[in-house]
Amino acid sequence: LHIGVVGAAFEKGQSKKGTSLGPKVIRDSSVLKNLKDLGHQIEDFGDLTKSNAQIDKVTHSKVKNWHEVASYNKSVSDKVFQICQSNRKVLTLGGDHSIGAGTVHGHLTAYPDSCVIWVDAHADINTVKSTPSGNMHGMPLSFVLKELQDEPSSPEWNWVKNRLSAKNLAFIGLRDVDPEERKIINELGICSLSMEEVDLMGIKEAVQFALNMIDPLHRRPLHVSFDVDALDPVEAPSTGTTVRGGLRLREGMTLLETVNTTGRLSALDIVEVNPAIGNSEQVGQTVEAARRLVLAAFGNSRQGNS
Ligand code: ARG
Ligand code: MN
Ligand code: MN
Ligand code: MN
Repeated sequence: LHIGVVGAAFEKGQSKKGTSLGPKVIRDSSVLKNLKDLGHQIEDFGDLTKSNAQIDKVTHSKVKNWHEVASYNKSVSDKVFQICQSNRKVLTLGGDHSIGAGTVHGHLTAYPDSCVIWVDAHADINTVKSTPSGNMHGMPLSFVLKELQDEPSSPEWNWVKNRLSAKNLAFIGLRDVDPEERKIINELGICSLSMEEVDLMGIKEAVQFALNMIDPLHRRPLHVSFDVDALDPVEAPSTGTTVRGGLRLREGMTLLETVNTTGRLSALDIVEVNPAIGNSEQVGQTVEAARRLVLAAFGNSRQGNS
């Protein structure tokens, strides 16, 4: 495959320092070399530099870093779109998960029939009205979902032209969902496979169920947005909002191997690695988990590749 890599070195969607170093530590894991060794052609577009928007002076009444998150996401969207236009798959290294608004929008702009699997402990679908924290990494889906369109009609987000239908979105790994988020998910009928369902069904069946729900005819381009906090903190301790009872790394790998098998994975985000959290062993473990997830998504076989 031809894969374009971009670093979304951004951390203003939440309040902990260090998430913007995610792309650097993941690159340092030699994952891009590993992808080349699998036979892929890798084009690294580097990190997206800070957008030219001014730092927030007037703060939004409720939401933190409103302008900055909006304008950074526009550059994420433009870059993802451009990589898609060059006929490459997209690998986006975050960064906090607020950048998911941009990756989904950019990919959807290139492929209007694309579907999204959001792998996360959290649903990240809070609106301006519902956010309990004001942290925009808990809100990216609300900006790109068609059915929530009227919620944030603000000039900062008016570059968002294309929106995802709720029926083309599935969650896997949820276990910390705010009451208002649960209402939205239920009202819109979004496919939601929480850890409860993963435990009952097994990860392989859960992924196949999600794929059948969002893409019954098996022909749409797929985008997986993978928050490392979907993994159990035992596997990925260096992230800002850990929740116990998560996916084992092996389940995360099986998930991505299953998606890879469709041949339709077109965009992958790995987000919320924060090397400023935990000791060096924990950071190493989290980065190694991220590396293994990327390789699982792009054809590495645990049986060994010939
Ligand atoms: N639901 C909570 C909120 O809105 C937590 C979101 C955590 N999101 C994340 N990408 N880690 O603040
Ligand atoms: Mn997330
Ligand atoms: Mn999360
Ligand atoms: Mn999180």
